[in-house]
Formats: sequence, C-alpha cells, structure tokens
Amino acid sequence: MTARSTPIGSLGGEQPLWHRMSEAAGLVSATGEVQETVFGRMTQLAAAHGAVNLGQGAPGDPAPGFLLDAAYDAMLDGANQYPPANGVEALREAVAMHRQRDWGHRVEPADVLITAGATEALTAAIVALAPPGTDIVVLEPYYDSYAAAAELAGARLRPVGLAMDGAEVGVDFDALAEAVSERTSIVLLNTPHNPTGLVLDEEQIRRVGAIAESVGAWLLTDEVYEHLVFERAHIAPGAVLGGGNVVTVSSAGKTYNATGWKIGWLIAPPEVLEAARAVKQYLTFGIGTPMQHAVARALRDHPAFLPENARTLAGRRDTLVDALHRVPGATVVVPASGYFALVDFSGLDGCTGDAFSLNERLTREVGVTGIPVPALCAPGSPTARALSSAIRYSFCKGADDVDVGAARIRAFAQRLSA
Ligand SMILES: Cc1ncc(COP(=O)(O)O)c(C=O)c1O
Repeated sequence: MTARSTPIGSLGGEQPLWHRMSEAAGLVSATGEVQETVFGRMTQLAAAHGAVNLGQGAPGDPAPGFLLDAAYDAMLDGANQYPPANGVEALREAVAMHRQRDWGHRVEPADVLITAGATEALTAAIVALAPPGTDIVVLEPYYDSYAAAAELAGARLRPVGLAMDGAEVGVDFDALAEAVSERTSIVLLNTPHNPTGLVLDEEQIRRVGAIAESVGAWLLTDEVYEHLVFERAHIAPGAVLGGGNVVTVSSAGKTYNATGWKIGWLIAPPEVLEAARAVKQYLTFGIGTPMQHAVARALRDHPAFLPENARTLAGRRDTLVDALHRVPGATVVVPASGYFALVDFSGLDGCTGDAFSLNERLTREVGVTGIPVPALCAPGSPTARALSSAIRYSFCKGADDVDVGAARIRAFAQRLSA
C-alpha cells in the first residue's frame, strides 16, 4: 500500500476533523503523524524498562464484590438489552438520591442522563452548549479529552493556568476573570482536580460561578473524583450555586474502581439534557444495561464503601508522597484528592527542563514511570513551560506497585544524598 500524503478524510488540503481533534489533544508529532496517547506511550516505556508504571490512572484494587454481584444479578434477571436512551430509571433515581444525600445537591431523576463514562457526558455537553467559534475556559493542566471535544464542537479551548507557588496550587481568579468574555460559552471546572488534587472550597466555587455568570456562560463541572477527597469534603458546585447555569458531570469509574465499565452521567436542566441526548444518541445510544443496574444498587445500598475507599487511597498517597519528599530538588504538590501526585523536578541535579526526557531518565535510573505534565497542558502554553520539569505519578495502583515504586524512589533519594 502506498503511503498517503494527506490524512484520510482530507478534502482540498484541509485537515480532517479527526486529525484536528488529535492535534488539539497534542497527539500529532512534529512529522505530522498521530501518536498514541501519552498514557499508552508511557505504559510502553515502563514495560520496555521493567519500571513500575505509575502513569495512567487505572486503579490497582478490584471493584468491590457487591458491585460485581449486582451486575451478575442484573444479567441473570434479563437486563441484557438496550437501556432506555436516558439511562436505566433505577440509576437515574440513584444518582439524584446520591447527589442530595452526599452533597446536598437537589437533583430530580428527570435531570439525569446516563452516558458512556464522564468522557461522553463532557463531549455531549460541549457539543450541545458550545457554538462554533466560542471559547471554553478551563483550568490548566486539564484532562486530555476536553481539547478534542472543544475541537469537535468547533469551539476554542482557552486554558487558564493554575496558580502554582512551590508546592501550593490555587486558582488565579484574576486570570480567570480576564479570560472570560461574551465569546465564552462554557467555563469548565474540574473539582476535585486532575492532576493537582486541588479541591475547591465553597467560596472559590462561588467566585468561579460568579465569573461564569458575569458573561452568561454555562458552568460545566467535572466531578469524577468526588468520592476520593482525603482531608475535607467535596463541594458540589450544583449544590452551592443552584441549578441555573450549572451542568454537572461525573461517573462511577473512579468511585468504584471500575474505570472499564464507563458508566457516567450528566445532570442538567431539561433543555440541555435534550440537546446532549441528541448528541449521544448517535454515538453510543446507551451502554452497559446490567452495569447501570449495579451502579444504582451500589450508590443506594453501599454508602459505607465510599469513605473506606478514600481512606485506602489516602494511605497510598502518603506512602508515595513521603518517598518523593526525600528526593533532593523535588517539589511535591501534596494532593488533597484523586489519584495523582504532581512533582516539579526543576531543582533536581541534571534536570534539563524537558519532562519527557526526564521521565525517560527516571524510568531508567529509578525504575518508576509517570506522565510528563506538559502532556496535560495546551501544547507550548505558558503553563506547559512553567511545568516543563513536572511529572505526574499515580498512587491509585495496587499497594504492591505503590510500595515498590516508593521503595525505588527512596533508594534513588538515598543515592543522591550519599
Ligand atoms: C478529570 C477527569 N475527567 C474525566 C475522566 C474520564 O472519566 P470516565 O472514565 O468516566 O469517562 C477522567 C479519567 O481519568 C478524569 O481524570
């Protein structure tokens, strides 16, 4: 087969949409090829060197037995056909109940649309709410699907770098207020935040809400780490700000160590739900009927699992963070939530300021692989430059991986200090 000079689907020399989506997500190499995501590439890097893979945020612990039993029960009960377009009623009811019970967020089952993970909910909401040519303002670094979804909608992602001062992370409200304008269709807020673990408090949420409202933008929230908050409670923007212009996204993947199930949801006013459903209808229509039933039962009947799971994870965070703190020249952002610890290695001896080569070096020298943080930023942005020596390490892996990774990091720190 002869090599194509232009990507498949090109018309008149224009880059096709799929290629632009990949480019927006930083996946197009200098020579124009679309690469695998950074998570896949770093997994290969770890495997090639026998390193502990603390890259992708895939939990090492199994999904709880009550969840698996509930899915099997649902299958035996015959829940194996297409779900309703809006999702299984029992899950819509359970999501609404759970938002009120755990966060004081008043939600009706009719406000809930079940999706293929949070990723589909985010994409459907973005395509529904961001007209072409508008801006989506987002805190940076950010989850990689946002940029591709913005491109799909024909909108522009406007990243606002988080304020970072050594190990302290916060929101730069002045920069956020400056970034919004009458062109802003969506302010996209990820709290608890990947990859810094930042959890916004009520006052901060009110400030972000006021900034979105000042320009008539939707506040789209990504709360997938809502149940993995260690020191204080998650605050749901929808509870603090009321319905109005808030559109909420979350999913069961992180909550129940079941990221492969891809059961997510969107909570929104009826007209937004209708628009988002129109988008998702022809992507997946609906998925995972028995898993939807199982997540409904888990949310309803097993609230005690939620803090227990967060406690387990907090222990692994402490193990990893303790090891990282010993590395001379490493500045560690201690995460208040989530799966990840972000480490700035700019003070490390021999650090060249390129997180990708540094990650390779540490893979070889330490035997631990993470994700270079610039891959989670807009390509070449000021935040990507500021974090050019930062690596994200995941502590959601199994206890064995985290323990081995931490031991290797401690040994590395000892060698450096000797
Ligand atoms: C911030 C954030 N949002 C969304 C997702 C995706 O969630 P899901 O697997 O439910 O699509 C992730 C997964 O890593 C994430 O980190």
